[in-house]
Amino acid sequence: DWLATASFIPPVLHVFDTASRIAIIGAGSVGSTIAYTLLTNPVASEILLVDPQEQFRDAQVQDLSDATYHGNTSTLVRAGTHKEAGQCDIVVITAGAKQKQGESRTDLIGRNQSILRSVVDDMKPFNETTVLLLIANPVDILTHFAFKYSGLPKEQVIGSGTFLDSARLRGALAAKVGVSASSIDAYVLGEHGNSQVAAWSCVAIAGVPLDQFPGAEQIDRDAVSEDTKQKASTIIDSKGATVFGIGSVTASICKSILFDQRNIRPVSHYQEDMQVCLSKPAVLGRKGVASTVQLPISSSENEALLQSASEMRKIVGESER
Ligand code: 2OP
Repeated sequence: DWLATASFIPPVLHVFDTASRIAIIGAGSVGSTIAYTLLTNPVASEILLVDPQEQFRDAQVQDLSDATYHGNTSTLVRAGTHKEAGQCDIVVITAGAKQKQGESRTDLIGRNQSILRSVVDDMKPFNETTVLLLIANPVDILTHFAFKYSGLPKEQVIGSGTFLDSARLRGALAAKVGVSASSIDAYVLGEHGNSQVAAWSCVAIAGVPLDQFPGAEQIDRDAVSEDTKQKASTIIDSKGATVFGIGSVTASICKSILFDQRNIRPVSHYQEDMQVCLSKPAVLGRKGVASTVQLPISSSENEALLQSASEMRKIVGESER
């Protein structure tokens, strides 16, 4: 009978214990790349794309959905509203202008702060466990204002920060010493921008401090720091935008959060002592930042980090409204 037959049919595998949803605010090149990365490394059951340009948003939804029909992903992509986004597990905010050639990230503050304010207002009231993940630039300043505007606990408001710069630094060192980037422990701290600080004193490979690692002595640290800092501009000069690096680190942060992985990542979050958001390594779990790791950086690096914080505070002060 049919029941006997049915018992041979393997149970449907549910990849996700509970329905988890990620909203992406802004369906442009960065938002859609993040959505695509989240489809190809599935972490959520649903992705909502939110964008006021409805025709464009729907076309992005259709194009992204086409990447889901051949069986590799159980994630559904659909259009969503700001109100729905405010109820999601993670809200990834990419909405805003992007740097034009020759512009710094902080040049975007006026335009992107107003967009952020209206987006956050439209999403309210938030589900109390929602984590906001800021991607738009200047990311540290926008993370600060998202924290203020949303009223969410500081642990739940995160910016991608220097995770991407740290990846770039690891990549550069990997090429120089001949080990994989993921085997190198290296962090860029502070602003995702011009005042960032590469924490050279804490770089280690398999527990060996960089200055004791064979082949590492010829590395020109200042040049590597500068290339890391300028990498986005170098890419923007030639192709107008960066999308794949940020898409990849954003998907990684989402995974750490939804799966409560406790990965340590340099992300922007509110620093009580500095009264500003900037990146330090953070333990990422289901509630956002579970704790901050204080790296034993040198005194000159610490000076530079305090300088980065004071520059962030100045911009926040000038932009407060
Ligand atoms: C990046 O660093 C532009 O912030 C963006 O790729």
